[in-house]
Amino acid sequence: MNNLHLCPCLGYETFCELRRSVGWDLRPEPQGRAALAATARAVTAWQDDTPVGMARLVGDGIYWLLVDVAVRPSFQNRGIGRLLVEDLLQWAQNRLQPGEKVTVHLVSARGREPFYRGLGFASIPDAGCGAGMRRTLLGPDR
Ligand SMILES: CC(C)(COP(=O)(O)OP(=O)(O)OC[C@H]1O[C@@H](n2cnc3c(N)ncnc32)[C@H](O)[C@@H]1OP(=O)(O)O)[C@@H](O)C(=O)NCCC(=O)NCCS
Repeated sequence: MNNLHLCPCLGYETFCELRRSVGWDLRPEPQGRAALAATARAVTAWQDDTPVGMARLVGDGIYWLLVDVAVRPSFQNRGIGRLLVEDLLQWAQNRLQPGEKVTVHLVSARGREPFYRGLGFASIPDAGCGAGMRRTLLGPDR
């Protein structure tokens, strides 16, 4: 695709715009801005001046969590999601020192598992691990 470029950055407005484009809810602004500030590595894809995709890694260098992988619907199925995830994986790979390893985790949206499998992720549970699990906590007025 002509004029597609990646940027290792993600501003709050772009984050909201891309979340909206794929039908995801927004968080209160202070929570969203704090999450972006605490992000270890974010990447956005731009077509000229239009943000068309994003992804981010949060975590501590032993465990990364891959979140907010989203490509604007009119730009899906053109390889942008793959580029974004590969960019983050390359960043994580490049940080590794001799003897280190890191695990990248994610929760796939329903039906998107083949996309992640194509990027080298394996489903759990598997022979060694039980199910991934999560718990959601709500703020006082939610
Ligand atoms: C999932 C998503 C990020 C994929 O981005 P994309 O730019 O459309 O994906 P790509 O074009 O890079 O696809 C890469 C590969 O995954 C495959 N793929 C993509 N979506 C797929 C799907 N839903 N089912 C099966 N395979 C899929 C493509 O065929 C392609 O395969 P190839 O490399 O063998 O040709 C995008 O569809 C999206 O934003 N969806 C809405 C938000 C969402 O659900 N995000 C995931 C949250 S966990």
